This record gives sequence, structure tokens and C-alpha cells, in this order.
Amino acid sequence: MSRLTDRDVPPTCPSCGTPTLPEGARFCPSCGTLLAGAIPKGALSPEDELHPVTVMFPDVVGSIALGARLPPEEVKALVGECVSAMARAVEDHGGFVQAYQGDGICAVFGIPAAHEDDPERAARAALRILEVVGAYAHDVQATWGISSFNVRIGIDTGPAVVGTLGASDPQVSALGDATNTAARLQGAAEPGEIVMGQSTAARLSDRFVLREVGPFALKGKAEPVRAFRVVGERRESSPRSLLPLVGRDQERKELSRVLADLASGRGQVVSIIGEAGIGKSRLLAELHAMTGPDLTWLEGRCLSYGGELTYWPFIEILRGWLEVTEGEAEVAVRLRLKAKLTSLLGPRTPEVLPYLGRLLSVKLDPEVEERVRYLPPEALAEQIHQAYRMWVEALAAPHPLILAIEDLHWADPSTRALAEALVAATEHAPLLLACAYRAEPDSEAWKFRLRVMEGFSHRAQDLPLEPLAGPDMARLADTTLAGAELDASSRQTLVARAEGNPLYLEQLLLTLIEAGEVAERRVVSVDERALASFPPALEGLLVARIDRLPPGPRRLAQVAAVAGRSFLRRVLERVASGSEFESDLRTLLRTDLIREHSRDPELEYVFTHGLIQEAAASTLTRIRRRALHGQVARAFEDLFAGGIEDYLEILAHHFAESEERPKAREYLDRAGDKAAGLYANQQAMSLWERAAEVARALEDDVAYRRISEKLADLLSVVGEHERAVAMYRSLAKSDAGDSHRLIARAAWTLLKAGAHEEASSLVESVQGELDPVTAIRLRQARALAAYRADRVIEMKRHLDEAEGLFMQDTPSDVALERAFLWMAYFEELGDYTVANSWADVLLQLSQGQDDPVRLLEAKKRIGVLKLEAGELVRAEILLREAYEQARHIGFVVHTWGAGVNLLYAYLELGQIYRGLALCREFLELHMTPFWRSVALQHVALLEMESGQTDGARAHLQESLRVSSWLDDPRGLLESRIHLCAVDVLDGNVGPETE
Ligand SMILES: Nc1ncnc2c1ncn2[C@@H]1O[C@H](COP(=O)(O)OP(=O)(O)O)[C@@H](O)[C@H]1O
Ligand SMILES: [Mg+2]
Repeated sequence: MSRLTDRDVPPTCPSCGTPTLPEGARFCPSCGTLLAGAIPKGALSPEDELHPVTVMFPDVVGSIALGARLPPEEVKALVGECVSAMARAVEDHGGFVQAYQGDGICAVFGIPAAHEDDPERAARAALRILEVVGAYAHDVQATWGISSFNVRIGIDTGPAVVGTLGASDPQVSALGDATNTAARLQGAAEPGEIVMGQSTAARLSDRFVLREVGPFALKGKAEPVRAFRVVGERRESSPRSLLPLVGRDQERKELSRVLADLASGRGQVVSIIGEAGIGKSRLLAELHAMTGPDLTWLEGRCLSYGGELTYWPFIEILRGWLEVTEGEAEVAVRLRLKAKLTSLLGPRTPEVLPYLGRLLSVKLDPEVEERVRYLPPEALAEQIHQAYRMWVEALAAPHPLILAIEDLHWADPSTRALAEALVAATEHAPLLLACAYRAEPDSEAWKFRLRVMEGFSHRAQDLPLEPLAGPDMARLADTTLAGAELDASSRQTLVARAEGNPLYLEQLLLTLIEAGEVAERRVVSVDERALASFPPALEGLLVARIDRLPPGPRRLAQVAAVAGRSFLRRVLERVASGSEFESDLRTLLRTDLIREHSRDPELEYVFTHGLIQEAAASTLTRIRRRALHGQVARAFEDLFAGGIEDYLEILAHHFAESEERPKAREYLDRAGDKAAGLYANQQAMSLWERAAEVARALEDDVAYRRISEKLADLLSVVGEHERAVAMYRSLAKSDAGDSHRLIARAAWTLLKAGAHEEASSLVESVQGELDPVTAIRLRQARALAAYRADRVIEMKRHLDEAEGLFMQDTPSDVALERAFLWMAYFEELGDYTVANSWADVLLQLSQGQDDPVRLLEAKKRIGVLKLEAGELVRAEILLREAYEQARHIGFVVHTWGAGVNLLYAYLELGQIYRGLALCREFLELHMTPFWRSVALQHVALLEMESGQTDGARAHLQESLRVSSWLDDPRGLLESRIHLCAVDVLDGNVGPETE
């Protein structure tokens, strides 16, 4: 029941005046008058909201045939009775009759506020309607011989805009496609059938037996609509609930201790407390499984729409003891109650029978009935408590007894009072009350808990359930999938999204399975988008938590949801200003929708679960959501005017969502600059991409070109050459004046990518002359390519051509490249004198630049030259500097490159032990398996050299393993050869070595 929103229901019955009605009651407990026929005014928010709703259309058929036999007033009266009974069934289940339409009604479940189980309520109400109308049909058949009197029911679920219509006497109504579809499905149903659309069926298949009918071609629908007939309620539990328990070791331990105490005669009250889906019922089932045969287990559950069904779970418990089946005749129940009680209680039976009989609504002996009828309500309640307790104590006398009560948070006051009355029995009987409930401070369950704590804390044991740990969730995902397997990253995403809640995980998986994303017996990777969808079965559950809030806190939750998963208090306060802010915020904290996230540097809150934030946001209409994003953005601008740099991305996000494009463009662009400044290149690119898109939509060509060029430059830097070139080209095409510069950039990018031919032809395609720097770069790139291909003559030709183009202000990177290429050229010719002089130029130029990577590259390169020229000491110094610098920066490729050459220098210098120490350092670096196998071989060689054959053998064996894992024949062969050499050194030459 939505206790908070039912505040405005008058506290006394308007019909009989009974005072102090139970909070949230829909019917007066004394006279049965319907109390909540109208939506309480305060429950609706002034703005339209979006909710999932379930719409049901029951329509009476056969009244025309009846008209042939009866006067019209009587037909009307009969149909009227049926329609009233249908409306009452709807109200009983918390639905709302939106309209009366001739022989039918339009009922909506989920207004003014969504319940977590609206589709289920609708289905149960529909079953009740079949039953009620069925009774009328039976009478009509018996009396007038007319067999066509019946009812047809259509049900559909979907999002609807919920708001008030009409100015003077506003009526709440829900507008959505589900209304149309439900009406059409009703038309397609056979008399006596309940037909529902797929969206409802998907939410109910766990609890009802459904049979597919149709598909139906419905008016107003392009595609045939899949439809399902309700066959009945599912008796057996769904197979998923039988999956093995994961985690909860501590809780299991405590439960087995409780059971041991119980066996030794000690009664207790155990409370399993936690949010929806966290695993309370699963743990209760586990407790049941842990019990032995010499123990009585009886269970009952509180219903979310319990309404007037007072004492419901205790009635279920009683029926469970009597093994009453659905639809069993009253007389059978009555006799069994009498017989079983008599054998249990003997002469004390009359003290108990009338009251338990009353609970079960069985007929009592006339004189007993007389006694019970005139008892004042409080006295009757007292008698019921006593009788029930007597029965329970008698039952617990021979064997321990466990009464399990599910979903106590939905209990009505009468249920709570009876539960409290039973607690005292735990003092002297082996009785365990095992209750599962959510921590809802306003619920009867919470009152019960506080009462138990007050008077019986020595008997009470709380088991609060925390979210499951990541590895447990991963295991649960695997068992739920049974056969299919998710790839590691999809599983990770899912587990992260469920945040420790097994129900959420299960439903997310179920959505995937139903979307056909997961098939049996194979490893699948799941599309990010499929993972992002909102599971239908959770929609109601989560939206209901938002809808249960009174209007003020609900609006605050919506604002917060727009602000983000976590949000700053100051921002929230600025957007949702108002005198109620403080108390509304407290309500959100108290109901555990949000919690404090941090206090430093300022107060920040966070939604307790990501899906709750999504649910709150989902209740906003598009227009309102847009407006709120704008308000949040402006709050940031106002509050952080001084330090806006820290919030650029947030502002960009909110302005983009609020569709205020100029602002969105500005902040996306600036956020991109900031990211690029921090070398967060991917992020920068994605921000600029979006900025450029917005600029284009704004037809702001100047901004578009400026941002796109930045983007292309960055793409070129990170090696996305193709995209960069395409972008430069398209920019060049659209502005002839600027095309030269852009084509030059494109050409440079192509050169970097090694596409020399393409670069030249691109450059040639541009009219006019090439700018000299690009021309030099083009020649240098070709020279480098020739060098790599060992074509020295061609290399020289390109270098000479480049030489002719140099000018005073040539950029330094071009000058560096020049020195490097000439050095390499003369090194190749074996002319170390000239090569050395270019090396000096190279070193000098690199030292002049403030770029450690350039410098270490130069040192490494020159070190190699010196090594070749036989200047070993100089080589060792340069290579060691390069090596250490690379290690310091953490640049692995260069560390390795410089290191290997340094190793050669040590070997040439005969410094085996320094070489060995260096090799051992290599092994601690993170490197690719290939380089690791090479490093291992080097270490082994040096170890052999220094006589450490054991170490050498071990390292070679590892190298062998790595090589075989890599499938690298050369590595394998070399490792084997070296291993043989080790054998030879050790003197054990076997046949294999031969
Ligand atoms: N520890 C667990 N191991 C395996 N499955 C679990 C566990 N906890 C919960 N589940 C499964 O997750 C779903 C939701 O749990 P349930 O017990 O119904 O939650 P609650 O009663 O708290 O709302 C159920 O299908 C249940 O079987
Ligand atoms: Mg449960």
C-alpha cells in the first residue's frame, strides 16, 4: 500500500463513522464501505509524469441475448451489478477505474502511483472478475437458459503520461498506447478469457501459466500483436528460485545456530532485513532447507494489496496447517478445523475454535456466532490473539515450530498486532518467528521490529542482508545462464550494473535471454546497448519506490536524478529551491533512496543504486527533463562561476541534454580542450566530435571548422591516420582559400603512416606549389623508407633533394630528422667520421629541446653508432643514459631497445656481471611475451657464460614455455639449442642432446 500518498484519506469512515481507521485502508473494517474510491488530491504532482501502467478492460457480453428474455430495466440492473462487482475487484487490488463504458470498465493499475506489481494486480483482479461474473453466468444459465452471458478481458502494460484532466473537477488519467491495445485485445478475446499483450506476459510468466494465442491484427497497429491467454496461477515455484545459494556464509552460520537453539527449546524472532531483491526469500528458503524432519514449518506472506485482508499471512499459515486447497468447500474446511483442533487441544478446543474459524471465514455454530458477532472490535481482536497463541503453543509443544512470514513490510496493523502477540510465546515454547522484510521506517514491520527490540531483545536476532560481493555475483550470473557463458567484459558490465543485488542481476540477464542475446552453450559477448536496457520486471519495482513518495520529495528525487548518480547538495538546493527542501531531502535519505557520499570539499549525495536513479529519471516527461537539465546547468554556472574549469564536462552534458545548443557547443569545445591538455585524448576527441556536431546543427561554420581541425590534428597524433586525412580533405574541399594548409596536414599525416605514394599524389593534386616544410618532410619520409628498405642510393637522392629546400626557419623536428638521416646514411656507408659529426649535431639539437623522449631516442641511436664504430666506452655511457631515462619515464619499448644495446656494450667490454644484473632487471619489466622470451635467452646465455648452469636451465625452460605458447618456432629452436649447450656444459650428454 502506498502509505505516504494515502495521507489524505479521512481518518473516519464516511458511512458508519468508525474512527481511527487503519492508515491506508481502502475499506472500512466495520461496515465495508469503500473508502478510497477517489484518488487523494495531494497524491498527484502538478506536472505530468511518466509511469509504467497496466490497463485492463473487462467487458460483459451476452446482455443482448438476455434482453430477449428480460425487461430492459432488469437487464440493466443485472449488468450494473456485474460492473460494480468488477469495479470492486479492481479497487480491491489497488487499481483505479478510469472510466465506465456501457457494459465494461477501463481500469488502470499504477495511478496515481505505480506499485511494484501492477501487472500482477491486474491479472489477479481479472481472475477475480472471471470468478464473480462466472457466478452470475451460472445463475443466468440456470434461470433463463442463456449460455452466452460472460465477460471478456484485455490487459496491456506500457508507459503512460499520468496527469490530471479538467479544470474545475480535475480527474486523474493515464494516456498511453497500452489503453488502446488493452481495449483491442479485449475485443479479440473469447468470452471467459483474459488476453494480455506481450509486455504484460513478460512480467508475469514467473507466476502465471500463460498460453500464446494470436497473433492478432489489431486496428491501429502496423504489425500483428502477440498475445497470451491467462490459464491460471502457477503453483510450482519458478525453476530459477532453485538455483544454488551463493555467498551468505555468515548468515547461514547464524541461522544454524538459531536452529540448534530452537532444538534445545529456545524460542526466537529472526528478522531477515534488506532491500527488494537482495535475497531475503532465498535465505528463508535456505532456512527451510536446513531444517530436519522433526520440526513443523508453516509459512504465510503479506500481500502488497492486502487492503482489507486483515491477518492474511496468519490465515495462510492456518490453511497450510489444515492443508486447505484452492477452492475447497467451506464445509470440508470447517470439519477439518474442528477435528484437528480437537485432537490437538482436547477440552480446550471451544476456547480456540470460534476465533480460528472466524479467521478462516467458516460458518460457526449459531450460539458461538452470536457470541462473536457482538464483541466490540478490540475485544474480538484480543480473543483472536489469544486463540492463535494457544494454538501455536500447543503446536510447538511436541516439536519446534517455525512460522515464516514473508514480506512483513506490507503487513497491515492487525497482522502486526497478532505477530506481536505471538512474540511472548517464544519465551517458553520452541517457537521461531522468521520474518523477512524491507527496512521501511513507516511500515508495520518496522514498528514490529522496534516493539520486539523493546521487550524481547534477548530473543531477537537481526540478519541484515548486504549486497553480494562481486565474485558471488559473477558466480550467480554463470549459474543463472545455465550453459551459456558471457564473455568476461559483458559479465563484468552486468555485475557492475546490478551492484550486488541478485534480483537485478537475474532480471538483467533475463532481458538479455529474451532479447535473444544469450544462447545456450556458447560464450557470448553482449552488445553494450542491450546491457543498458531497463529490465521490465524491475521497472515497476523501482518506479514504485519513487511513486510512493509524497509530491515534494518525489520532485526532489527527479531533480536529483537529472543532476546525476551523485549530486552536490548546493546544486540540488539551487534547482529545487523551496521551504520544504530540508525535509524533502531528509525523506529521501530516510527512505534510503539516497545517501551521503562525501562531505569534503562539499556535501554530496548519491543514489543508493544506479537503477533507482534511472527509475526516477524515467518518470519525467521529455519536456520537463530538458528543462531540468537546463536548470541544473545554470545552477553550476552560478555557483561555480569562479572555478568553472572544473565543471566543463558536467556543463557540457547538461546543456546538451537541455538542447541549449550554443551553450552545449561552447562547453563541449572547452571540455575537449581541457581533456586534450591532460592527454586524455580519447575523451578529448569524443567531446570535440560532439561539439562539431552541435556546431554543424547550429550552422556555425566557423566553429565547426575550427573544432574539426583540432579533432583532425589529434586523430593524426594518436595514429588514426585514415580518419584524420578524411577530415582534412573534407575541410579542404569546403573552403578553397584554406585548402593548401589542410592538404599539407593531410599529406604529413599520410607520411607518418608510411603511405608515401599516396602523400605525394595528394600533394601533387593540389594546385599551386607545396609549402616548403611539407615538401621537406615528404622527402625525408621517403629517405627513411629507402633506408629501411636498404636502398642507400635512393636514400641519398631524397636527402639531396630535401637539402635544396632547407631554409633558416625550418622547424626543429625537421632539422633533427635531417641530422639523424645523414648520420644513418654515413653509418651505412661505414664512414664513421662523417657519421660521428652528424651525431654531434643530432645530440646538440636534441639537448636543445625540452623533450626527454627525443633526447633518449637520440642517445640510443648514437650509442648504437658508437657501438658499431667500436667506441665502446662512449657507447656504454650513452646507452646507459638512454636506458635509465626510458626506465624512469616508463617507456618500455625504448627501455628494451636501449637496454639490449647496452647489454651488447657490456658483453663487448667483457663485463659479464653487469650484463647479468641488467638482464635480471629486464625480467622485471612488463613486456610482451615475445620480448620476454628473448630476454630469458639472454639471461641464460650470460649465466652459462658465468657458469651458473642451474639458473640458465630454469630461464631457458621458461623461454621454451613462452615460445611454445607464442607458437614461435625460432624461439623454440633457440631455447632448445641453448638447453643442449647447458647439458654439454654440465657434462651430461644424453641421446637427446646428440
Ligand atoms: N545468495 C543467493 N544465491 C543465489 N540466488 C540468490 C541469492 N540471493 C538471491 N537470489 C536470487 O535472486 C532473486 C531475488 O531474491 P529474493 O530472495 O526473491 O529477494 P527478496 O526476497 O529479498 O526480494 C531470487 O531469484 C533468488 O533466488
Ligand atoms: Mg521476497
